[in-house]
Amino acid sequence: MERDVALKLVKVQLTEHRYQHTLGVMETAITLAKLYGVDELKAETAAIFHDYAKFRPKDEMKEIITAQGFPGDLLSFNSELWHAPVGAYLVEKEAGITNQEVLDAIRYHTSGRIGMTLLEKIIYLADYIEPGRHFPGVDEVRMLAKENLDQALIKAVQNTILFLMKKNQTVYPDTFYMYNDLIKKLEA
Ligand SMILES: [Fe+2]
Ligand SMILES: [Fe+2]
Repeated sequence: MERDVALKLVKVQLTEHRYQHTLGVMETAITLAKLYGVDELKAETAAIFHDYAKFRPKDEMKEIITAQGFPGDLLSFNSELWHAPVGAYLVEKEAGITNQEVLDAIRYHTSGRIGMTLLEKIIYLADYIEPGRHFPGVDEVRMLAKENLDQALIKAVQNTILFLMKKNQTVYPDTFYMYNDLIKKLEA
């Protein structure tokens, strides 16, 4: 899909702030794709659509999660996680994106998972470090992203887990699986 067409489809789904974030994720994902030898067009498409479902009503997301048989425990975790798998579903249904690698990058951009592909890692990281992001630790991850994708991801997921724990929030199991997987590969 042409970039302009994709951006138009996404713009109407998002607030202006979230649309600007999406543009940042797109630029960052393309840069990372070039750096790590990943298909730039897939990175661009996944980035543009990654937050497609961000502002869908919770009831609609719940219905989709239940009807589509997504992991049953998802509904008992933070609703911030829901827009990722729901987005993958809606992007295929409404925007006609059928590439499974792109859809998986959207599906796992918030939780992560074990055995992430390079494209999934790039979207996860681009979402975390795009230029509009300002929070403690983000600059360190930005620097690491230029050197070593996995080390940048480890730092990002550590920050995320610690952030959730400090707020007494649950951590979705896939996020721990992602963390353990990356650490084991680093040790190996
Ligand atoms: Fe998101
Ligand atoms: Fe995002």
